[in-house]
Amino acid sequence: MDKIIIEGGNRLVGEVTASGAKNAVLPLMAASLLVDGWLTITNVPKLRDIETFKILLNHLGSDIETDPGNNILKIRTKDVASPEAPYELVKTMRASVLVLGPLVARFKRARVSLPGGCAIGARPIDLHLKGLKAMGAEIVIEHGYVTVTAEKLKGAKIYMDTITVTGTENLMLAAVHAEGTTILENCALEPEVVCLADALNAMGARITGAGTDTIKIEGVEKLNAVEIRVIPDRIEAGTFMVAAAMTRGNVLIKDCPYKSLDALNMKLREAGAEVIEEEGGVRVIGDWPIRSVDVKTHPHPGFPTDMQAQIMAMMTIANGLSVITETVFENRFMHVSELKRMGADITIDGKCAVVRGVKYLSGAPLMATDLRASASLILAGLVADGKTEVSRIYHLDRGYEKIEDKLRALGAKIDRVKA
Ligand code: EPZ
Repeated sequence: MDKIIIEGGNRLVGEVTASGAKNAVLPLMAASLLVDGWLTITNVPKLRDIETFKILLNHLGSDIETDPGNNILKIRTKDVASPEAPYELVKTMRASVLVLGPLVARFKRARVSLPGGCAIGARPIDLHLKGLKAMGAEIVIEHGYVTVTAEKLKGAKIYMDTITVTGTENLMLAAVHAEGTTILENCALEPEVVCLADALNAMGARITGAGTDTIKIEGVEKLNAVEIRVIPDRIEAGTFMVAAAMTRGNVLIKDCPYKSLDALNMKLREAGAEVIEEEGGVRVIGDWPIRSVDVKTHPHPGFPTDMQAQIMAMMTIANGLSVITETVFENRFMHVSELKRMGADITIDGKCAVVRGVKYLSGAPLMATDLRASASLILAGLVADGKTEVSRIYHLDRGYEKIEDKLRALGAKIDRVKA
C-alpha cells in the first residue's frame, strides 16, 4: 500500500485548481441509468470512488467510455441484464445505493446490498427506502440485500426525518418517471443536489426547488442524454484553503466555489486568515498566530462535516482552546488519535472535541482511517516538525486527485512512496 511522506515547515504559495466534485459526479453517474443514450459528463476527476462506480455500472450492463486526458466520462445504458448491486462493491462505497432510484424508475426493480456501516458511522438508508415505499414500491430486506420493485412509481409527498444528501438524490432520481408529482420536504440543500437537479432538467425532467428544503418533481415519460459539466469540488477547495491558512501561505484556489463555502470562509477569517474572492478563484493568506475558533458542523449551508477533520488539524496549532462539535455523523473523530500521536492536545467528550492549541506538532508515522481524516493528517504533516508518514492512503485517493502533486506545486515537501 502506498504511503505519503511529508517534511513539514514549508509555507504554501502559488495557485491550485479545484477538480470536479466527487459527490456531484456519483449521482450523475447514477442518473445515466435513466437514459438509453450516451450521457456525457465533463470535468470528471480521477478518483477511486468514480472507478468503483464505473465497475458497478458495467456490472449492471452500462457501456462506459472515458477520455481521462480530458476528464470526460460517457455512459450509455441500453438495458440492464440484472439490476443488482453486489455486496463486494457496495461495501466499499456507500454511494452505490444511488442506483436504487433510477433502476426502479426505469427497470421496475433493483436489488442492492445494504451498505452497512462505515468508519464514520452507521449510515443507514432507511429514509431512502421510506421514500420509495411512499411512492408505491414494494421493499423486501433479506440476506443483507434490499429488493425494491414497482410496476410504476407514483408521486407522493415525502418528509425526510433527517437531512440526507444521497437520500434526497436517490428519491429525486426515482421520482423523475413517477406518475404525478412528488414533493420532497426537509431536503438536503447541498450544491451537489442542485447540480443533479440541473442535469436532470437538462435531460427533460421537471424539477423545481433544488437548493431549498422542498423539491418538487413532476414525473415525465422520457429523458434524453445530454452533456453535463460537473461543479467544482468545494471540499477539495476547502482543504486547500485550510492548508494555505495553517502554513502561513498565500494561495489562489482557482475554480473555488466561494459562495458555497460561506461557513468555512467565515471560520477561516475568525481564525485570522484573509479570504479574498478574486477573478477566477479565492485567495487565502494565512496569518500567525492562528486564533482558536469553535466549529459546529451542520448540513449545508452550515459548516460542512466533510471539513471538520481539516479545520481540527488547523486548530491543533492555534493559540487557545477550540471546541469542535460534530452533529452529522456519530463517529467522525477517527483522526483525533492520530493527531494526538503528533503532540496535539485533544479531548473528546461525546459529539465534541476540545482542542487546546500547542506550539508545534511533531512528525510521526500515521495511519489513515477514512477519506477526510486522511486529509487532516496530510495537513498536520505540512506544519509538523520533521517527517510525517501517512499509510493506507487509499482512503485519500477516494476523494482527492493527486493531492501530493498539487501540494508539491505549492511548495510542500511531499512525496508518494509506492508500496
Ligand atoms: C453525503 O453522504 C456525502 N457523500 C458525504 O461525503 C457527506 O459527509 C454527507 O453527505 C453529509 O454531508 C456523497 O454525497 C456521496 P447522509 P450521505 O445520508 O448522503 C443519516 C465524503 O467525505 N441518515 O447525508 O451518505 C446518516 O446516518 C463523504 O465525500 C439516516 O439516518 O450522508 C447521517 O447521520 C463522506 N437515514 C446523516 O443522515 C438515511 O436513510 C447524514 O447522512 C440516510 C441518512
